[in-house]
Amino acid sequence: QDMCGNISIPFPFGMGKPRCFLPGFEVICNTSSSGRPRLFLAYNESGPVQVVSALNHRFTARNVTASFVMKNAVELMDISVAHNEARAYRAVSSACSTNSTHFRAKFQYTNLGDEGPFLLSAMRNVLIGVGSNVESMMMTSTGETGNEMKAYMPSCLSNLMGKLKYATDGNGTCSGLGCCQAALPLNVTEFGVSFMPRLNLLWQTNPCFYGMLVEKSWYNFSVHDLYGRELLYPRGVPVVLEFAIRNLGSCPPEGQQKPQGYACISGNSTCVNTTRGDDYVCKCLEHYDGNPYIIGGCLDIDECKLPDSYPCWNGGICSNRLEGYDCPCKSGMNGKTGHCVENFPLPAKVIVGKH
Ligand SMILES: *[C@@H]1O[C@H](CO)[C@@H](O)[C@H](O)[C@H]1NC(C)=O
Ligand SMILES: *[C@@H]1O[C@H](CO)[C@@H](O)[C@H](O)[C@H]1NC(C)=O
Ligand SMILES: *[C@@H]1O[C@H](CO)[C@@H](O)[C@H](O)[C@H]1NC(C)=O
Ligand SMILES: *[C@@H]1O[C@H](CO)[C@@H](O)[C@H](O)[C@H]1NC(C)=O
Ligand SMILES: *[C@@H]1O[C@H](CO)[C@@H](O)[C@H](O)[C@H]1NC(C)=O
Repeated sequence: QDMCGNISIPFPFGMGKPRCFLPGFEVICNTSSSGRPRLFLAYNESGPVQVVSALNHRFTARNVTASFVMKNAVELMDISVAHNEARAYRAVSSACSTNSTHFRAKFQYTNLGDEGPFLLSAMRNVLIGVGSNVESMMMTSTGETGNEMKAYMPSCLSNLMGKLKYATDGNGTCSGLGCCQAALPLNVTEFGVSFMPRLNLLWQTNPCFYGMLVEKSWYNFSVHDLYGRELLYPRGVPVVLEFAIRNLGSCPPEGQQKPQGYACISGNSTCVNTTRGDDYVCKCLEHYDGNPYIIGGCLDIDECKLPDSYPCWNGGICSNRLEGYDCPCKSGMNGKTGHCVENFPLPAKVIVGKH
């Protein structure tokens, strides 16, 4: 089965028999819940797992002990083997004042597993804090998966000094007035978002602070979000995970026999080492597109179907060929470089091109 509802499941992801996926890439399609089928990474207590913990009273970020903990499988939104990425749903952390000193908080924590193929993408995600006075911080656990989360990594501060008029939607960006953002560190497999406790002077009108790790450019700050009373995006927000082939070593040297289990098995594919060390990803060669992890997966790109990326200049008529494309002109010259009609001044060229 290579579809779950309308989400496609390209190898190395797969479900069912062990040979239908590479280690760590097992997924489960849950059709039992109402609505459309949902795709999950196979659950493992030590990762991939998503943990929600809630506190009903005062919270201190230094030592989070939860009154209730719930563990779930990580849900996927889509998979791209061309980019070696998968998007997952991730819930937003929140802390909502119940009175001037007390909060009801919900923390979201994800452990992708130390030995697994997944990492939080540092380039494609961002830490966001939303609130009138909130220091949102990313946390990672040191070892045990559980309720205790340490090692505060980047954080960001949004402070309106008790004055909502300072908050503006702007163009959706997070500048520190009602919303803040920070860049993420590399090579993270366990992550959550917490808050440094700060006084909420506006707790009656604006009780909630929110924190999320989310795909860059996805969240557009709106002053309206400062008035939320419960969850922001209850279904979760998209977070981009990178995947790689783990624990089979790095790319074998050129020309050498490929080791057993080598994953880049398509023709016209290549192996690329990642920054983490003991892993690699497969990519189709230039001019090819598709799935490098299956035999015959990388196919010659038909550039003529993608005129935005592969244009022909005026007069040239696109013609696909192996590993490229041509733009022959009626006059027999090459339109790819913009020389279909030579020796004309530019305006004349445009007119000729239209006919
Ligand atoms: C599918 O979802 C239902 C309801 O959410 C849940 O009870 C069940 O355990 C899930 N099944 C699997 C295989 O994850
Ligand atoms: C806030 O609520 C908590 C528990 O709900 C209570 O113990 C505390 O006294 C309250 N504080 C104020 C100032 O009302
Ligand atoms: C869960 O993950 C651990 C560590 O990666 C692994 O040793 C174990 O076999 C996994 N359990 C299952 C049921 O897959
Ligand atoms: C935020 O704006 C961008 C760019 O207009 C858009 O692609 C994105 O879907 C928006 N996000 C949401 C949650 O609507
Ligand atoms: C690369 O793709 C071309 C076109 O599909 C094919 O003819 C060629 O055999 C492929 N190369 C390898 C090494 O599979």
